[in-house]
Amino acid sequence: MKNLESDAFVFFGATGDLASKQIYPALQAMTRRGHFDMPIIGVARSAESLDELRAHACESLEKHGGVDPRAFATLSARLQYVRGDYSSQETFGRLRKALGRASRPIYYLAIPPSSFATVAEGLASSGCDKDARVVVEKPFGRDLASAQALNRTLRHSFPESAIFRIDHYLGKEPVQNLLYFRFANSFLEPIWNSTYVRSVQITMAEDFGVQGRGLFYEEVGAIRDVVQNHILEIVALLTMEAPIGREPDGLRDEKQRALRAMRPLVPADVVRGQFQGYRNEKGVARNSQVETFAAIRLYIDTWRWAGVPFYIRTGKRMPVTATEILVELKDPPQNVFNTITENQPNYFRFRLGPHVSISLGARVKMPGEAMAGRDVELVVHQVSADAMTPYERLLGDAIRGDATLFVREGGVEAAWSVVEPILANATPVQEYEPNTWGPIEAEQIIAGGGAWHNPKPIAEEALRAAK
Ligand code: BG6
Repeated sequence: MKNLESDAFVFFGATGDLASKQIYPALQAMTRRGHFDMPIIGVARSAESLDELRAHACESLEKHGGVDPRAFATLSARLQYVRGDYSSQETFGRLRKALGRASRPIYYLAIPPSSFATVAEGLASSGCDKDARVVVEKPFGRDLASAQALNRTLRHSFPESAIFRIDHYLGKEPVQNLLYFRFANSFLEPIWNSTYVRSVQITMAEDFGVQGRGLFYEEVGAIRDVVQNHILEIVALLTMEAPIGREPDGLRDEKQRALRAMRPLVPADVVRGQFQGYRNEKGVARNSQVETFAAIRLYIDTWRWAGVPFYIRTGKRMPVTATEILVELKDPPQNVFNTITENQPNYFRFRLGPHVSISLGARVKMPGEAMAGRDVELVVHQVSADAMTPYERLLGDAIRGDATLFVREGGVEAAWSVVEPILANATPVQEYEPNTWGPIEAEQIIAGGGAWHNPKPIAEEALRAAK
């Protein structure tokens, strides 16, 4: 089973939000590239017929990335529809029939986690689970206990090797490049530790709000929505040891060790914020205590990272949309030139989006008599016209059975253990004005007089130069 490709793609929740925004665009892109030739079966309740599902797929693509007439025609011809309730055995009987001769299906559960158990049981009792793979979406639980319960539910019907937990950040090109940059170069390793690194900042800022997802957001908040998964996965990639071998588990073992070494957060390490106006959003409680912003100080208890603070900040309605990592190095041991002041360190900056770049911040001498210098950045911009979207990449990997970029049971549970003590409104939520960098209290998270680094919008000419 290990390296055999799946031979049918089934997605539950075929008329839902996730299918509209991510699955149809990914299926169309895979069809266009020509390496996706299998029955595609959507399962849902609300579409009346296959024609209605096809129309829904087309509308979804019009809104999210555009319709490619040729690829869509192929996709549409392969699409089948199983209509039914997930709690009814008949639905799974019909699915079994629709699968025809396919013997290694892959099931994408694009449905609320509360329905996972019902669907997993339906698949098992109808025999649809044989040699199958299952892909599940975040949020994977809402705390450690519920994640463990979900894992138990899935493991009841599927072996761990058949379960693919998606975190779309792991499918992003610049996130993969973090791993590549770290382990394809030798110059980084000698300084990638607490002897040279002063601190690491990770900012994931979004200039928009909850975009009509108030009801969903009330259930999660920023810590569950993006810190427990996307951001801690990034920290793990930045801090893990080199994987042993090239098997998926080599990488996943090291990432899991990094997650396990993260010290569980305490309330003093976190400031939670909520933008003014959030409580007026549809689906949001008038007295909501849910955070739309979090600033966090995290430590990693390993020999390599002892004492290095990792400052994490994420928020909605920030001044820009940008995800950036800043690795600040310590000052040179002696100040040979009097133009160097403290807090002017060398740094690596990884811009993960929306425009991707890697920069090295350094000092160079200014031409002239004086031994005076200035700050410069050596920058690599990465522009790719035909980049795969994370979902396209991850669905393709899951179909091939390559689990490298998926989160393992132990990894997801280790990440919940880190944030567990700051869930349940562990600290009061502070209000902030939209279009600012969050509540003033967030300044206190930075130890020893440093400051948050605010990502800047990328200058137009830098983008042109990169093309
Ligand atoms: C999702 C969160 O997982 O990631 C959203 O639910 C967030 O709230 C999104 O906006 C960010 O992803 P990206 O790929 O747009 O950076």
